[in-house]
Amino acid sequence: MSSSNNSRRQFIKQTGKASIALAGLPFINTFGLIQPNQEIHYQQLPLQYAYNALEPFIDAMTMEIHHTKHAAGYTKNLNDACIAENVDIKTKSITNLLASISKYSTKMRNNAGGHYNHELFWQSMQPAPSSIPTGTFLKEIEKSFGSFADFQKVFSDAAKNRFGSGWAWLIVNDKNELAICSTPNQDNPLMDIAETKGFPLLGLDVWEHAYYLKYQNKRADYISNWWNLVNWKFVENRFNSTK
Ligand SMILES: [Fe+2]
Repeated sequence: MSSSNNSRRQFIKQTGKASIALAGLPFINTFGLIQPNQEIHYQQLPLQYAYNALEPFIDAMTMEIHHTKHAAGYTKNLNDACIAENVDIKTKSITNLLASISKYSTKMRNNAGGHYNHELFWQSMQPAPSSIPTGTFLKEIEKSFGSFADFQKVFSDAAKNRFGSGWAWLIVNDKNELAICSTPNQDNPLMDIAETKGFPLLGLDVWEHAYYLKYQNKRADYISNWWNLVNWKFVENRFNSTK
């Protein structure tokens, strides 16, 4: 059993929702390669695409600085904090750490969130054109939000309205339903201090470092263009893993 499934089981157990955790099945990515739904550990994984692969929607320089400077910094600082605060990264999963983040320092909170959020973010994008959700997952979106377009509007509004730096999220909440929320800074819905808790399926980084070089103050344009990049197979795979 992978730590990914353990984490999901823990979340479901914590929320009182008995369910069946399934193995992360491989899926076919844009390049036609079989890729696992990769678990997030304490290291940065290599990007599955080139820095310029998301152009014209996200430019190569933004991607390179974002991945090699900002995100790499969170990963390094997370590992430093784990040493300082006696977290055994061989036995404690990231999601388990996030679920008890209130017991740790602000440095741990910011960097554990920063690392997890970015590893999810990279995997949830692919070079355009994006597919759209299908099957059971699409039906669940329509049941929860009315239509896929309505879902996109609510999610986009959550991203636009997050004051300052933070993230917008699509989650499976403690009622086992799809929900949209946002978090400040590098917090996320897995944290015990989160206002809205759940298992994140998709997250959008609305820190200025994610878009400022290309979009400057036009966050709304960044958000509307980002929809072209969402890897819905990846998101759907995470949704299925909660069932
Ligand atoms: Fe970021």
